[in-house]
Amino acid sequence: MNRTIKKVAVLGSGIMGSRIACHFANIGCEVLLLDIVPKEPNPQEQAKGLSLSSPLVRNRIVNEAFQNTLKANPAALFSSAFAGRVKLGNFDDNLAEIKDYDWVIEVIVENLAIKQSLFEKVDALRKAGTLITSNTSGIPIHLMAEGRSEDFQKNFCGTHFFNPPRYLKLLEIIPTQWLLVVLMKYRTLLG
Ligand SMILES: NC(=O)c1ccc[n+]([C@@H]2O[C@H](COP(=O)([O-])OP(=O)(O)OC[C@H]3O[C@@H](n4cnc5c(N)ncnc54)[C@H](O)[C@@H]3O)[C@@H](O)[C@H]2O)c1
Repeated sequence: MNRTIKKVAVLGSGIMGSRIACHFANIGCEVLLLDIVPKEPNPQEQAKGLSLSSPLVRNRIVNEAFQNTLKANPAALFSSAFAGRVKLGNFDDNLAEIKDYDWVIEVIVENLAIKQSLFEKVDALRKAGTLITSNTSGIPIHLMAEGRSEDFQKNFCGTHFFNPPRYLKLLEIIPTQWLLVVLMKYRTLLG
């Protein structure tokens, strides 16, 4: 199956998620990068009178992670201008936007129950036929897809990027029983 990937949603903005987001921005994709909403405003935010309803607070985790990545050495982006291709948000307010994305990559904490809980929400929101993958290092792929819809399972696999993704030009593809076809000519696309 041929797929055209122009818009990529990256779920999780930690060490790997922010760098994967930059890597896709490098090749011209529009990227949505999401993370969790903090439990409460921190003391600095409270001092400014911000509450948990403020977007600044709600997106603090993704904002800080992405800004830290922009300062990384070696650089995650080819050009700092490409940062504008990455839209930041959070799982509570922005997850529904994944319906407009061609590839949804999960890059959250390495915990099966937490990943399964996010995939349940993703299953309800993603557009049928879109690629959905996990960057897990070691959780068996079939366990993450358990209980999900047939369309989810047919379009799900592991895509294990190595750190830092811009510089380590390899991608481990972990198929499920449904998806034995390699996703794309990775080296050609991501150079
Ligand atoms: N760090 C590496 O070198 C590396 C390499 C390859 C693969 N991986 C895999 O990539 C994934 C992410 O690893 P990382 O190193 O980026 O981790 P990280 O700790 O830097 O980032 C994890 C992200 O998960 C989010 N998170 C925490 N609790 C959550 C919850 N309850 N719900 C949703 N999101 C939550 C955090 O806010 C954070 O942004 C893991 O599956 C890991 O095994 C990591």
